[in-house]
Amino acid sequence: MIKYSFQTKVAVITGAGKGIGYEIAKQLSSAGASIILNDIDWALADQAAEAINVSGGVCVPVGGDAGKLDTIEHLISIAYERFGRLDFAIANAGITTFGSFLEYQEAAFQELLTVNLKGSFFLAQRAANKMIAHQQKGRILLMSSVTGITFHPDLTAYGMSKAALAFLAKTLGVELGKHQITVNAIAPGATVTQRTADLEQGNYTENWKKITPNGRCATTEDIANTALFLLSDEAQHITGQTLVVDGGWTSTSPPPGT
Ligand SMILES: NC(=O)c1ccc[n+]([C@@H]2O[C@H](COP(=O)([O-])OP(=O)(O)OC[C@H]3O[C@@H](n4cnc5c(N)ncnc54)[C@H](O)[C@@H]3O)[C@@H](O)[C@H]2O)c1
Repeated sequence: MIKYSFQTKVAVITGAGKGIGYEIAKQLSSAGASIILNDIDWALADQAAEAINVSGGVCVPVGGDAGKLDTIEHLISIAYERFGRLDFAIANAGITTFGSFLEYQEAAFQELLTVNLKGSFFLAQRAANKMIAHQQKGRILLMSSVTGITFHPDLTAYGMSKAALAFLAKTLGVELGKHQITVNAIAPGATVTQRTADLEQGNYTENWKKITPNGRCATTEDIANTALFLLSDEAQHITGQTLVVDGGWTSTSPPPGT
């Protein structure tokens, strides 16, 4: 891991009780940032924040649904009340619902769009307004996916939402450029987390190892390393981009199990 210095920086990150979001929060904290850590599972948010605080970090847990405006506004207000600033808004919360296009139900569609799109859009909007008002050169990071770039079986709605996030990064890079706020997205490929390890009858890691040019799945560390780079001063001239982190999978994109 490259050693960045994020002392004095304050980050809000959604869906960070475990998985990719937690790893980003942990690494940002190790680099000196103060963290406001959200998860819909309040106990998980408390537990994750406690682990970071015990390691010497400064992390405030905030339970709540990141698809709801009141949670988003609460997260941002805590950043200013507790720390007087907000540097990084990381819209990581996202849900993945598998289902055939021909049978996909309205309730699942609505829930998916609320978390993946509405939550990300309004976190970016509310954070940008505050950053502009406080004249902060902030960073906004969105969590897209390789599924937003290329076909994946039974993930039409999810893929559509992730493609939209890449587009959101592109347009906000333009909208917010004059305010010195960069907006980028990460498109992780298959990444091993507690959730994904159980997919594909428990063969997820093996399946993706076989079809990934680099010969392995991504780890949460791979994705967090990318996040820290995009949040760093070294990336200050990068905006509107979606950075694919997939070990080369999207170049040929064979389906898992082949
Ligand atoms: N793991 C992968 O292979 C992969 C690949 C591409 C993209 N992604 C994206 O990365 C992000 C994180 O994925 P992950 O695999 O770490 O997920 P995960 O399921 O391991 O963890 C997600 C966390 O978000 C929380 N969460 C769910 N809905 C929420 C909501 N409405 N509000 C607040 N918190 C909520 C969950 O409780 C959980 O703790 C997601 O946006 C996902 O779509 C993951």
